[in-house]
Amino acid sequence: MKADIQRATELVGAQLPAELYLHTVRTRDYALELAKRYGCDGRELQRIELAALLHDNCKHWQAQRLLDEAAALGCEPTELEMRVPALLHARVGAHRLRRDFGVTDETVYSAVYYHTVGGRGMGREARIVFCADKIEPGRNYEGADELRARAGGGLNELCLAVIAAGLDYLTREKAPIDTATIDFYNELIQELSAG
Ligand SMILES: [Fe+2]
Ligand SMILES: [Fe+2]
Repeated sequence: MKADIQRATELVGAQLPAELYLHTVRTRDYALELAKRYGCDGRELQRIELAALLHDNCKHWQAQRLLDEAAALGCEPTELEMRVPALLHARVGAHRLRRDFGVTDETVYSAVYYHTVGGRGMGREARIVFCADKIEPGRNYEGADELRARAGGGLNELCLAVIAAGLDYLTREKAPIDTATIDFYNELIQELSAG
C-alpha cells in the first residue's frame, strides 16, 4: 500500500491541474486529520490517504470524455449523471483505479466511488473522505467553518451535517438531488437511532 501511495502521489502531481491538485492535497491532509481524530488504525489511514489522493483523478475532464470513458469502462450513467455528467467523475474515477493506477483495494474503490453524493454501505474510510472533500480548509462557502467546528463530534453526526449543508445548497439552487444522498442520510439516521 505504501508503494501505491507513492505512485498515486506522483501521478496526481503530474496529471491534475494546479488548483485541483492543491484541493487533492488539502483533502488528503484533512482526511488524515479526521481519521486520527476518529481513531483509525494504520491500515485505515493508508487506505484513506490513497483514496483521498485519487478521489478527483478525472474531475478535470470534460463531460464528453467522462461519458466516453464511462462507456469504455462499462459504467452505465444514471439518469442524473446523463443530465449532469460532471457527477460521473466519482464513479469513473473509481473504475479507473485498477486500470490506470494499479489500485485494487475495495475500500479505496468505495471511498472514491461514493465521495461526491454518498450512498448506502459506506465504511468509515469512505465517510471520512466524503466529509474531508466537502470541508477541507480551502472550502470557504458560507457555513464551512461551522462544519469544520463540528468535526470534534462523532463521524456520523459530521456526515449528517455535511449532507444537510449540501441539500440546503442544492435546494436553494433548485439543483437535482441524487437519491444516493438520501439513502446515505437514511442509513446514518438508522445507525444513530440504533445507538
Ligand atoms: Fe470530486
Ligand atoms: Fe474533491
